[in-house]
Amino acid sequence: MVISPTVSEDSVEKNCPYFPACGGCDWIGQDYQQQLTWKNNYCQNLFGCFNIKKQDGVIASPEIYYYRNKMDFVITDNKGKLAIGLRTKGNFNKIVPIEECKIFMPNLKEITEPILSWAGEEGFTTYNSRTHRGQLRYLCLRHAKTTGEVMAVLVMALDEKDFKQQQNKFQRLTRIIRDKNIIDSFYICFNTGKADISLTDKLYLVFGKPYLKEILNGIVYYLSPNTFLQSNTFCCSLLYELICRVSQCDNRSVLDLFCGSGGISLQLALKAKEVLGVDNSPSNVTLAKENAAFNKLTNVSFICTDANEFMKRSEPINYDILVLDPPRMQLSKDFVNILTNCKIQRIIYVSCNPYNAYYDLKQLTTSYYLEQVIPVDMFVHTRHLEVILVLSRQALSG
Ligand SMILES: C[S@@+](CC[C@H](N)C(=O)[O-])C[C@H]1O[C@@H](n2cnc3c(N)ncnc32)[C@H](O)[C@@H]1O
Repeated sequence: MVISPTVSEDSVEKNCPYFPACGGCDWIGQDYQQQLTWKNNYCQNLFGCFNIKKQDGVIASPEIYYYRNKMDFVITDNKGKLAIGLRTKGNFNKIVPIEECKIFMPNLKEITEPILSWAGEEGFTTYNSRTHRGQLRYLCLRHAKTTGEVMAVLVMALDEKDFKQQQNKFQRLTRIIRDKNIIDSFYICFNTGKADISLTDKLYLVFGKPYLKEILNGIVYYLSPNTFLQSNTFCCSLLYELICRVSQCDNRSVLDLFCGSGGISLQLALKAKEVLGVDNSPSNVTLAKENAAFNKLTNVSFICTDANEFMKRSEPINYDILVLDPPRMQLSKDFVNILTNCKIQRIIYVSCNPYNAYYDLKQLTTSYYLEQVIPVDMFVHTRHLEVILVLSRQALSG
């Protein structure tokens, strides 16, 4: 099941020049209340069969434009001039050149233009994934909404040796960026691989701070180029607040699986007795530990390991509450089996793929009651949706 309405070009307010060609958001220009209604209907149809005590309406995003904190733009050629672009709807290999993006940040061109002009002047060309010629692959940007800081990562098909040989070119870029005073942190990412991915872990800080700062519900988060953060900062604060509230974690022990760089763990640690975060990305876990120390939170720790392996190794699981925020895929059978047989009293399952979560729920509800479903409109103007599913061993009375 997918959230089905496909918005026709005629039914929308023309507020994005790249609709409908751009595959970034396919509902842009459609009345926002209508978008929420579609998402509400979807959730009610999907989760209605579970006899839920409380099905909340979709929580609207506090901001519906310029809400995203991160975008990976492809560097492309637009009539002989370098441009940034996004993939065309329905055709991964075709790029729509863009100058602005209604869901990312205003004044985007002020940031991209100096970098693209410099690259053209220095003779760099776009990377061709068939011939593997050219150097310019992606421009990945982060915009911290609560501090206004900007991080830019230019992903190039260069290795460190090529980079060192061309140091003077990058020194000129540093001067340009410093003079314009628009970017707080600037990295080059070396990516000579054949796979079409944007960021690798080969990062070189060319200019400015190594981290961006974002402040959510009083907790300070430092973010590196690879750090995971929920993409809509405004909804992320709401999501974290809701998770803390429904988890009932006061003075309890909490396990936060798939914890990223500690986004949820650090918020829970303000109230819980202790929190353990588990993630398989070393860079996320390193940053999570640094962020915990920076916020002077001593009741939270982190382990870098596979969540499935961790669950198998740790039986019996001695935590009161489990918070679970996996990537898009369904949970493994073994993992669900451990959850159904362990002593955890409460599970807060956070998912950006309600459809897969529905299949996991079918099994989890053999041992837990689904108390509440809270959909949050993290991905405004798209058909995607974030949900918080609250599961409890005990049925709610009434
Ligand atoms: C949706 S993000 C969750 C982020 C975090 N809860 C937050 O709010 O910032 C999913 C996370 O799962 C991690 N991950 C993916 N597969 C994993 C696995 N098999 N074991 C542990 N962590 C995994 C990724 O590194 C990523 O940080």
